Amino acid sequence: MKTIIEETYEGMSRMAARIVADEIRKKPDMVLGLATGGTPLGMYKELIRIHKQEGLDFSRVITFNLDEYYGLSPDNEQSYHYYMYENFFKHINIKPENIHIPDGTVEDINEFCEEYDREIQRVGGIDLQVLGIGRNGHIGFNEPGDELITETHVTTLTEETRIANARFFGKLENVPEKAVTMGLGTIMKAKKILLLASGREKAGIMSELLSDTNVTTKVPASFLHLHPDTTVIMDRDSAMELLAKKL
Ligand code: GLP
Repeated sequence: MKTIIEETYEGMSRMAARIVADEIRKKPDMVLGLATGGTPLGMYKELIRIHKQEGLDFSRVITFNLDEYYGLSPDNEQSYHYYMYENFFKHINIKPENIHIPDGTVEDINEFCEEYDREIQRVGGIDLQVLGIGRNGHIGFNEPGDELITETHVTTLTEETRIANARFFGKLENVPEKAVTMGLGTIMKAKKILLLASGREKAGIMSELLSDTNVTTKVPASFLHLHPDTTVIMDRDSAMELLAKKL
């Protein structure tokens, strides 16, 4: 795992956007895996700037989002659908038919999940997957546990994750209890992975993740140690504990 530490959140965001933009320039019809949450917001802002000022072309890019809350319709302001259109898609020239986001409202959700993985394979697999990380080490919504599920699936959120995400919902009771997420296998099949971390609240998990190369289902992100091409980009705040250990 290659690790890059940037001084600031803006620096982390610019570096991430540059890597994504370079990949799109190299392969204009690339398959891009996308994440939500607070962390990638700066990267999306910078990618929009590159699109507007430098003409980065998204017209042939195909995207697959990592996850979505179960039961939230796409027009719900807390849904990841809404987040993606507001913060990214409506500002760039991506084709709506090239956008894929799990739908947490379909009747046959298991069939939907299987089809999501099949569709990723049909377009040739994910070239670059962007990830954030939960404070408990989750990626997508793959929560720590005794086992991890490989395929896209419906999962139950931990109390810790619901509390962390309550800031977007006003209060804890409003946070859905379930979500649809790419599985660990879906994520690990991506040819290249970019893991972003920012802020002091991620310092503990980043130190745990990067202090050794062990793999455990208790820290789902630790499986990235097995991936051949993962780059971690952190800001200094999230690298604080790791740097303190190394001194
Ligand atoms: C959320 C999302 C993840 C995200 C993580 C961190 O629950 N499901 O995809 O990476 O938790 O979120 P944030 O960037 O807001 O800290």
